[in-house]
Formats: sequence, structure tokens, C-alpha cells
Amino acid sequence: MIIRRKNYLTIFVKVVFLFFAITASAEERHHNHSPFKSIAEYIQRMESPDRVEWQMPEKVVDYLAIKNGDTVADIGAGSGYFTVIFSKRVGDMGKVYAVDIEKDMIEYTKKRSQKEGLNNMNYILAKPDDPLLPKSSVDLIFICDTYHHIEKRDNYIKILKDVMKKDGRLVIVDFHAVNTPVGPPQNMRIPKEKTVKEILSAGFKAEAEYFFLPYQYFLIFSK
Ligand SMILES: C[S@@+](CC[C@H](N)C(=O)[O-])C[C@H]1O[C@@H](n2cnc3c(N)ncnc32)[C@H](O)[C@@H]1O
Repeated sequence: MIIRRKNYLTIFVKVVFLFFAITASAEERHHNHSPFKSIAEYIQRMESPDRVEWQMPEKVVDYLAIKNGDTVADIGAGSGYFTVIFSKRVGDMGKVYAVDIEKDMIEYTKKRSQKEGLNNMNYILAKPDDPLLPKSSVDLIFICDTYHHIEKRDNYIKILKDVMKKDGRLVIVDFHAVNTPVGPPQNMRIPKEKTVKEILSAGFKAEAEYFFLPYQYFLIFSK
């Protein structure tokens, strides 16, 4: 009798464990977007009209003081939320790279840019561990809400340094590792201090930090 009750208890514990394992990995998969649960749903989230209030995209780009003719790489470009703004800021003499590891995202941004008549765009279907950008080619690398997706960051940051021009800048915008009404699950967030440490260890210099975004840190580094 006691043995049977013990067996039931073991089965119950296993079922509970399995339930949590499945739901947790589903959430993680959804956030990793690989594979996407639904690209349409994900794009809708990135393009949500409420986002402008906390993301302030035009203000963020204003603070980057981008010049006509600059080359900007938007790594983890997603739906092109920032990419299209960069395209307008660098003008016809400039160049923008939309870099993403998801083919559907690249296709979406391509269609969007063509619709908007943006002709300084370049699209790169990158590898998770390499943005596949040409060496010494970029004035500004912008990484918004994507740094926390990148694995093997030590090596990735070195690659970023190689693809930047001598006076190039690296910009990281990502969610603080505290509770916020929007953003990735807590266990995927990278605290600001860790991000700064990782980038400085690769030999970058801290150039600026801005505090007007309510949920994200906004950091600029130079080479
Ligand atoms: C949360 S979205 C952010 C999109 C965009 N930066 C924005 O702010 O709207 C993250 C994007 O990064 C892409 N991504 C994830 N890992 C990546 C990697 N290692 N290299 C390039 N893109 C990556 C995803 O496919 C997704 O489109």
C-alpha cells in the first residue's frame, strides 16, 4: 500500500516537472524566435503602436548624430523598425545594412524598404555567430533588443570591432534586468554592467550613456 502511494507520488512529481519543462521551453523558443511561433505575430509586436512611447525611435536616432553618407549596420534588424529611419538619415550617399539571422525578417524589411522607395539598403542573412559584414566598412553598428540573443559574445564583439571603421561606434540598446511591462523573460536579459564589461574587455571605449528610455539601457562605445 505504502509502495503504491510512493509510486503515485513519483508519477505526480514527474508529470508536474514535465509540464513546467514544456511550458518553459515553449516560452524560450517563442522569445528566441527560432523557429518563430508566428512571424506575423512577432512583427506585430515589434511594430506595435504603443512601442513608440517607450522606444522613442526618432529620439534614439537623433542622439546618434548620424551624418549624411554614413554606413550603418542594424544587427538584428527584425521588422526594420529602426532600419528605415537609418536609411532616411544617411541619405542617398549613405548605406544601411539590415542584418538578421531570420530569412523572413530580411524579406519583410526588403519589401517594406522597397515600398518606401529606400534605395541605400543592403540585406544580410547572417549567421548567429557572425554578422557577415565586410571588414572596416561600418561607421555605426546598432544593436537594439538583440544583444541578449547573441551567443558566444566574446568572439562576436571581436568581429564587430573588425567590421567597424577606425572612428566607428557601437550602440547597444537592451532591456534592463528588472521587471518591465514589456521585454524578454528575465532569464534572458543581460544586466547593463555585464554588457559594459563584455564590450570594454574587447578593447572598446565607453563613449556615452543616455537615460531617457524607461525600460532599456542605451550605450555608445567607440573603437
Ligand atoms: C527582439 S528583435 C529586435 C528587432 C529590432 N532590432 C527592433 O528593435 O525592432 C531581435 C531580432 O534579432 C534577430 N537575431 C537574433 N539573434 C541574432 C544574431 N545572432 N544575429 C543577428 N540577428 C539576430 C532576430 O531574428 C530578431 O529579428
